[in-house]
Amino acid sequence: MIIAIDGPSGAGKSTLGKMLAKNLNLLYLDTGAMYRAVGFAVLDKGVGFEDTARIAEIAENARIELVGEPEHLQIFLDGADVSLAIRTNEVGQAASRVSTISEVRRILVEHQRALGATAPNGAVLDGRDIGSVVFPNADIKFFLTAKPEARARRRYEEDLEKGRAVSYEQTFAEIKERDERDVSRSDSPLMIAEDAVVIDTSELDLSEVFAQMIAIVDEKRAKATAGLT
Ligand code: DC
Repeated sequence: MIIAIDGPSGAGKSTLGKMLAKNLNLLYLDTGAMYRAVGFAVLDKGVGFEDTARIAEIAENARIELVGEPEHLQIFLDGADVSLAIRTNEVGQAASRVSTISEVRRILVEHQRALGATAPNGAVLDGRDIGSVVFPNADIKFFLTAKPEARARRRYEEDLEKGRAVSYEQTFAEIKERDERDVSRSDSPLMIAEDAVVIDTSELDLSEVFAQMIAIVDEKRAKATAGLT
């Protein structure tokens, strides 16, 4: 079973993706973490964002590994644990920038397809282009969204909790900037796949969204069992 979860940042994709993967015993693939790992490497090496050939080379040679259970997922880049280092706003912006480069997307999409296809029971993938590009035949496609204010508020509270010093205004501005880049890039922009189930999480708490998602998965499974798909 392949479950795609797409949507803008701060909509709850990763929290809910992890919950679903754990509940259904599926692999959880945080595809944003892969773009973040490339963004981190680019910043680390001091490469300019206009040097797309060099960035593609970095993506090609980067050894990105996602290790562990969904709720304790660790991200390794060339053997080093970058799980925390890739979560800064700076790396988020760098990820959004490198994700506009087609060659980078091609390399990471290939990696994502291979990981998803070889997962023993299937996988939950969260990202921007999972239902539209990576797995257009996914069994279930969710598109999680929320008002920018609600998403910025969540990110801001997360940052506060983790001791990262940012203001709400700065977080809001960064979310808007990233949204704009993610929906307007020419290669695989963030979009709602035709057959996706859209859930607006602005006014819902996690358990309510999770209940909706599980109900849809159960319905899909029941139909598959009855041979109606
Ligand atoms: O989900 P995230 O915030 O960790 O993603 C970081 C950036 O990576 C995001 O701004 C856009 C890019 N991204 C992408 O282009 N395609 C994906 N499947 C996942 C992330």
